[in-house]
This record gives sequence, C-alpha cells and structure tokens, in this order.
Amino acid sequence: MEKARPPITPQQIDNLRAEARGARDAAYCPYSNFSVGAAALCSDGSIFRGCNVENASYGLTVCAERSAIFAAVSAGHIDIVAIALVSSAIKLARPCGACRQVIAEFSSAIAPITVISESLGGEHVVETLADLLPGQFTLL
Ligand code: THU
Repeated sequence: MEKARPPITPQQIDNLRAEARGARDAAYCPYSNFSVGAAALCSDGSIFRGCNVENASYGLTVCAERSAIFAAVSAGHIDIVAIALVSSAIKLARPCGACRQVIAEFSSAIAPITVISESLGGEHVVETLADLLPGQFTLL
C-alpha cells in the first residue's frame, strides 16, 4: 500500500533548484539556443540531473526533465519525489506536455511528484504533477 509522503522542505527545494541550474550548463541546444536543466530528487535523497539534448533531426530532441527522469530510473530509482527545472528564458517555463506525461508515470494521487519550475532570473513556482496534468492517463 502506497503511503503519503511528507511535503518537501524549503531547503530541499532550494537545493534541487541549484542542482537544476548546474545541470543547465551541460545543455546541448545548438538549434534552439534554449537551454534547460533539470534535477530529480528521489526518496532516499539521491539526485539525478538532466539537460536538453537536441539533434539535427529536430524531433529526436530530448527535454531536460525526461533526461533527469531517465537517469534516475536507469540507476534504479523510480521513487521520485520532486523535479526542478530551469530554462534560459526570462519568462518562467513549465514542463512541456510530453514531459508531464513522463513525470506522471512515477507520480500518483497519494504521492504526487512536486514540480519546481524556474526562470533564468530565479522566479519560480512550486506545483504538483496533479496541478499540471489533472486526470493523468495510467494503466497501472
Ligand atoms: N525543452 C525542455 O528541455 N523541456 C521542456 O519542458 C520544454 C522544452 C527543450 C527542448 C528543446 O531543446 C528546447 O527546450 C526548445 O524547445
């Protein structure tokens, strides 16, 4: 039986935001010049970073959030508590629809993943996946 988790602390949020800012340095975005960094926090405290990785065949581009989630899952961590992202935009950018669906795979009604979206200037918003993708599609 899945258990509700305690809310994440302001310190955890700030730490995850810093990790996402660090992750953005590795963004590979020669086509859009729009860099994004993300960091996923797991229940044991481990953090996995991701960045956007573009491709000359544009549709093969992978977003930062998906890179971070796939890094966590590839390391055996599916218990994802929160994800932070920061983009190079002045205006705050939230996860795209595809990334919301990928985050949803590891989020549930009882333990929704916290999503922290941040602009270049540091403006940020803390939401849950349920806020961003109500009525999520699930087979499990
Ligand atoms: N991008 C992300 O990394 N995350 C999002 O949620 C939306 C968009 C990336 C993909 C592409 O490399 C660039 O931003 C412009 O769309």
